[in-house]
Amino acid sequence: MISRGFYTIRGTLFVLICTGLLKPSASYTVSDANKIHKLLFNQTDEGYNKLVLPDKPVNVSAEYNLLALNSLNVKEQILETTGWFTVVWNDSRLTWTKSSYGDIDYIYVPEDIVWHPKLIVQNSILELRKNLGADQTVRIQHNGELRWEPPAVLSTSCDMDVTYFPYDSQTCEIELAIWGFPTDVVNLEFFKTHINLEDYRPDEEWNLVATSQETSNLTEDELVFSELLFRMDFERLYGHYLMSVIFPTILTAILTFVTFFLPLESGDKIGYILTVLLALAVLLTLFSDTMPTTSKHTSVLVVFLTVTLGMACLVIIFTILIIRLFHQPEHDKAPK
Ligand SMILES: *[C@@H]1O[C@H](CO)[C@@H](O)[C@H](O)[C@H]1NC(C)=O
Repeated sequence: MISRGFYTIRGTLFVLICTGLLKPSASYTVSDANKIHKLLFNQTDEGYNKLVLPDKPVNVSAEYNLLALNSLNVKEQILETTGWFTVVWNDSRLTWTKSSYGDIDYIYVPEDIVWHPKLIVQNSILELRKNLGADQTVRIQHNGELRWEPPAVLSTSCDMDVTYFPYDSQTCEIELAIWGFPTDVVNLEFFKTHINLEDYRPDEEWNLVATSQETSNLTEDELVFSELLFRMDFERLYGHYLMSVIFPTILTAILTFVTFFLPLESGDKIGYILTVLLALAVLLTLFSDTMPTTSKHTSVLVVFLTVTLGMACLVIIFTILIIRLFHQPEHDKAPK
């Protein structure tokens, strides 16, 4: 008791001196921090037990911070992102009076010594068993607010629509959920109104045009679990595809119909149209390889190529007929 009183006096004196000098106080001492740790995590029966929930319900706020888009794999329908979650909640057991402890605002502890929500990304295509975070640091504020920032390289499934490839845009979601705790025990909510893009590095292939957020509930055996949806809209930058996809496709389609201008005497009509047909087939194979193997959305470009391929086949048939007519003996000639 004596020493506690002594430190309170010391703390008060300290505050007085600082106010006197009109200087913001920021004096960290190891011994003060040590005392806070002792105060919060003492090992008595009444001490902190990380298995006990801080409140009921515990309101956990989360924010997603997007750092980079690693890939948007249209064929496999996977979105790969690098980012981190900011997770904030209150634990009334972890408070101290700032002035009594050298004005220390925050202390930092490893996540596994405090109660923290077990978060998972529900639409991850990797194992669900893994919770976010591991060996991360939790920042505890003197008023009992905990801030935890688990980083995450995520591979999430995303339903992509390639109908207008390469002029397509894709909307993908990251679904964050608390595992094991229904909403009335641990309630998940948004920390900010938007996904944080402050540190986002723009991608070379996809333009991030918009983001949005939405809460959702998952009902399982009459237990309601809360879930946060972080949504991102990406638009493809089509410059590259204009050169490598659109122009070749249109040119090959035009070449198909040039066949009719080729004079019969040149004798190369069939050779020419077959070459064009092969070029078309190669283009079609190329695009089919990059398209997803679903039948849900069909790319307009692939339809266009298929139709052109069909036309080329018709052109071949007509050309053969024309050549046949041309080479018929005199007496079989069609009447004028
Ligand atoms: C924590 O408590 C403070 C003060 O009571 C409140 O303003 C804040 O919203 C709480 N944070 C969460 C995540 O509920």
